[in-house]
Amino acid sequence: MKGKFITFEGIDGAGKSSHVEWLADLLRAQGKQVHVTREPGGTALGEKLRELLLNEPMHLETETLLMFAARREHLARLVEPALARGEWVVCDRFSDATYAYQGGGRGLDRSKFLTLEHWVHGHLQPDLTLLFDLPLDVARERIALAHRVLDKFEQERADFHERVRLAYLERANGNPSRVKVVDANQTIENICKQLEQIVLTNCL
Ligand code: TMP
Repeated sequence: MKGKFITFEGIDGAGKSSHVEWLADLLRAQGKQVHVTREPGGTALGEKLRELLLNEPMHLETETLLMFAARREHLARLVEPALARGEWVVCDRFSDATYAYQGGGRGLDRSKFLTLEHWVHGHLQPDLTLLFDLPLDVARERIALAHRVLDKFEQERADFHERVRLAYLERANGNPSRVKVVDANQTIENICKQLEQIVLTNCL
């Protein structure tokens, strides 16, 4: 028996992180053993790399390679062993984020992204990806209301985030059976209903 791998994606301020635990609890109520994790991060080394990635300016290719280095560590130490034991993994961001941020946002050549994706997890894709989509101005308003110090990505200009959003939607269009778009410009209650419906139909 193999467990399932579910990822959450979306532009900054889409509100996905607050739903990750909610979904994990829903799955636990169905008797699943669930791990909640995130990228970049999820391991001791990955969290150190996250600190650098979110705060230090660096060359685009360095940024991309570090994202995939953290991912390789995360897959080897946490995700792959858990799935092999039949446990479920719910992960806040994965490679679709590299496609959207480094590819769409920063303009990384798609062939470089595809080479790294194939190298690091050619054998594994998420079973289901929940893409939280909403207009950019709503997302930016949510970030402003949180009143916290912004990381390197959150500080990017609106046109960067617009390209990230479009790249995510392009990735969803190219992978319709895996990537399901969630209308995130809704109440928490309505978003939970959408998540439950998608997961019940596609995973349980
Ligand atoms: P988070 O705060 O939603 O966890 O996101 C961390 C930031 O890292 C977010 O702005 C997106 C960015 N990121 C990338 O640019 N590429 C990636 O591959 C991943 C996983 C995250």
